[in-house]
Amino acid sequence: MTMRWLGIMLLSMTTALAAQGSVTKTAFGTAPDGTAVDLYTLKSEGIEASIMTYGARVVSIKTPDRDGKVANVVLGYSALDGYVADKSTYFGAIVGRYGNRIAFGKFSIDGHQYQIPTNNNANSLHGGTVGFDRLVWQGKAITDGVEMTLVSKDGDQGFPGTLTVHVRYTVHHGALRIDYVESTDKPTVVNLTNHSYFNLAGDGTTTILNDEVMLPADQYTPVDTGLIPTGVLAPVEGTPFDFRKATAIGARIHDDNEQLKIAGGYDHNWVLRGKNGEVKTAGRVYDANSGRVLTVTTTEPGVQFYTGNFLDGTKYGAAQEGHAKNTGLCLETQHFPDSPNHPAFPTTELKPGETRHSTTTFTFSTHAK
Ligand code: BGC
Repeated sequence: MTMRWLGIMLLSMTTALAAQGSVTKTAFGTAPDGTAVDLYTLKSEGIEASIMTYGARVVSIKTPDRDGKVANVVLGYSALDGYVADKSTYFGAIVGRYGNRIAFGKFSIDGHQYQIPTNNNANSLHGGTVGFDRLVWQGKAITDGVEMTLVSKDGDQGFPGTLTVHVRYTVHHGALRIDYVESTDKPTVVNLTNHSYFNLAGDGTTTILNDEVMLPADQYTPVDTGLIPTGVLAPVEGTPFDFRKATAIGARIHDDNEQLKIAGGYDHNWVLRGKNGEVKTAGRVYDANSGRVLTVTTTEPGVQFYTGNFLDGTKYGAAQEGHAKNTGLCLETQHFPDSPNHPAFPTTELKPGETRHSTTTFTFSTHAK
């Protein structure tokens, strides 16, 4: 064999090794019910993501800026006790059984009325008082990632049917992909999403107001004062909700607009172009300082763009860590809020014998100056 061939072989072997990535598991404390919590760290080219079994939460995502400096781009805490003590932000969690709100916690399926806990003024938020974000999931290392499994019993938080959920997190070349698979033994409603707060500056303290956001949506769902959709799909045209061209978040967030006032900023569902079930772009965020770009794609019909309006810097855990208003933004790919009470919205009902699969990918890249 010539030296040249040997060189080529060695090069392709190291490339293959680098592309393979790795998955490691470490202990991350004990949940209040005594269950041990594990942290899975997934590495691939240009990305390292840590996911814990408590709430199947994303604890950190490390990506390089345009100069190659690596930092964590999601908000969270350094230890489990912060996540347990904080009952309002849902940092990094898989929220369910129903992400976002259900009006008065009431809905009916096939003529049966159901009542779930109202934990957000008169309404229900993110699945009730003990949602999926507060449960310890079962973790299993898989190729390039981790599979988190949760079985929510019939009647859990008032929802009908035993619901089995598998959420797979995998990393690939600068991307974190989330695959959701759900099945039930009785008709029920399901709307799962991931509640990561992105801070592309990578310091957890710089506000996201200078980030430029693009949302490929012609309509959004305006809300009442309880943040429940009125049922109208309103055009974004001519409003501060038009992000079809990349615009700085802070450019219009303080406009004299009733919807922005109700939510204290952006906290709304955008109706994505393209078909429910087909992969499409849900949004893009650019932080000009670091050069980081986040692109979100999904099979879901909507995205909740939330600018961390209710973050108030409250400190949690032994380390006393907190995050201030507008220091993180969420792009929660989802079905529309309160869909069970809006027959015209894409349905969130799941029937026995059906398996629902959805996927969302967060891809990180950088942009030159
Ligand atoms: C909701 C916000 C809520 C937040 C909880 C978001 O999905 O839209 O209204 O405050 O979750 O931290």
